[in-house]
Amino acid sequence: MAQESYETLDYDIIVIGAGGAGLRAAVEAAENTGLKVAVICKSLLGKAHTVMAEGGVAASFGNLDAPDGWETHFYDTMRSGHFINNYRMVEIFSKEATDRVLELEYWGAIFDRTKEGRIMQRPFGAHTFRRLCHIGDHTGLELIRTMQYKAIHSGPDIFHEVTMTKLLVHNGRVAGAFGYFRDDGHFVLFRARAVVMATGGWGKVFKVTSNSWESTGDGAALAFRAGADLMDMEMVQFHPTGMVWPPGVRGLLVTEGVRGEGGLLRNSEGERFMKTYDPERMELSSRDVVARAIFREALAGRGSPHGGAWLDISHKGPEYVKAKLPGMYQQFMTLADLDITKEAFEVGPTCHYTMGGLRVDPETCATNLPGLYAAGEVACGLHGANRLGGNSLSDLLVFGRRAGMGALQYVQGGTELAPVDEAELQQEMDRVLAPFRREKGVNPYHLHEQLQEVMTNHAGIRRSGEILQEGLDQILNLKEQAQQLSIQGSRTYNPGWHAVFDVQNMLLLCEGIVRSALERKESRGAHWRVDFPDEMPEWQKINFVESYRDGEISLRTEPVGQMPENLAKLFTLGKAPGLVNAETASS
Ligand code: FUM
Repeated sequence: MAQESYETLDYDIIVIGAGGAGLRAAVEAAENTGLKVAVICKSLLGKAHTVMAEGGVAASFGNLDAPDGWETHFYDTMRSGHFINNYRMVEIFSKEATDRVLELEYWGAIFDRTKEGRIMQRPFGAHTFRRLCHIGDHTGLELIRTMQYKAIHSGPDIFHEVTMTKLLVHNGRVAGAFGYFRDDGHFVLFRARAVVMATGGWGKVFKVTSNSWESTGDGAALAFRAGADLMDMEMVQFHPTGMVWPPGVRGLLVTEGVRGEGGLLRNSEGERFMKTYDPERMELSSRDVVARAIFREALAGRGSPHGGAWLDISHKGPEYVKAKLPGMYQQFMTLADLDITKEAFEVGPTCHYTMGGLRVDPETCATNLPGLYAAGEVACGLHGANRLGGNSLSDLLVFGRRAGMGALQYVQGGTELAPVDEAELQQEMDRVLAPFRREKGVNPYHLHEQLQEVMTNHAGIRRSGEILQEGLDQILNLKEQAQQLSIQGSRTYNPGWHAVFDVQNMLLLCEGIVRSALERKESRGAHWRVDFPDEMPEWQKINFVESYRDGEISLRTEPVGQMPENLAKLFTLGKAPGLVNAETASS
């Protein structure tokens, strides 16, 4: 076989992924540090799932509800995560979210305002207080716009449209990443002293998802193969409200901001069915509860015509709706020819977020693989069994910064660039080009379609041991077929070629999801097992951790950390700390 060539680029730190977390990490690593930093994206800069967090960024300013504070944000996040969260991550997050939002504002984000000129905050599901700082219903977009501008001016080199196929390890430390440019297919080696992984989640493993084509879990899969541990993989979030009609836009997000601004959910009989599932919080219950409720109503024959529920905000009037939810108004007008200021519309669960991911140290975001850091959706620990809406944007700001700082400190500790292992790279290029050589093999798009079918039917909202086991068997079968992936054409702009690596990555992560889901024999947060419908105290004490060695996934349990006294006591008050404080102050 002829030797293949590749371009070599040397950096101190590379950040893989250019959504909010990657850009925030890049700022920290590059600004005034004198280090050579690269940001590498699979897509175009700014094209990230971050923009799909539309309704706001959660931070406990208390601008509208004065009793709010970090303790209540901590309390809400732990409770919604059903206590398998890493408490220290939640503590750091709750304490730092406000500073990160103010910093974002300082860098140019323009938030909606209260009459007094403070950042406006709206209610969201399972947040005790109005906590979501927002810009209409396009908060994620404004965050990305601001972070792009800030990151570009912090000095990193930016590489667009690069598929990374392998994370390189030398003497047990991360040494860089290898891949190819998607436009002309030429290979590239990024040598690096540290790597920050910020590639987001893997919602594209399901048929109905709010995620765009990029969300195939590449970073998690690459890091896992290289030796980093994954945790909580069974926890996948279905946002209760995606579009269900027309078919071409099924799954597209309908922001929780609609319910935050007063939107009401009804079934086909006109009932506000949330009274059956959470009479206290109703539409503003946590996402796992609302998504399950819609699913159950449809199963019971009380769904909307296309299998969802009705959401209605028309009672708020056109002026209010257009001011608060301009994106939703446009989205339904343009895509469904429907005026949400006048009529109710159909919504249903859509895969939105993966709570599981790379296990990281709460302070530095270091993974167990030296030199590798992770932040944002690719990492795990903060959200536990169910993420609160709006916590993803503050997550990526808080931990994007910490991952950048972690990598910076690691590099400043004196790690050198590792030498190139030429044989390893030739082997990798051979593997990456192999699908071109197979004449009659498996089509990657067909395989992806089958995987989505399996995951939707066997590892979606409703699970049982039996259907999960069938799902695992089918995934293992697809994994066999993936050995024979074949594509045609050249290396120039060949989407079929890119799809090969996407589907290989997704297969690995799906196996991880199903293996963990089989083992968690209870229902907790987003993980609903009809054969084990109750939450069991003994399962609250463990996380499932997965490692990849010699081509096999091994799974083990690890104890959830014990909260120190000062945090544990926040849960002994009988209600959220801010509510208790408010009562004490008024009595
Ligand atoms: O519904 C939404 O606006 C999504 C927010 C989030 O996922 O944090």
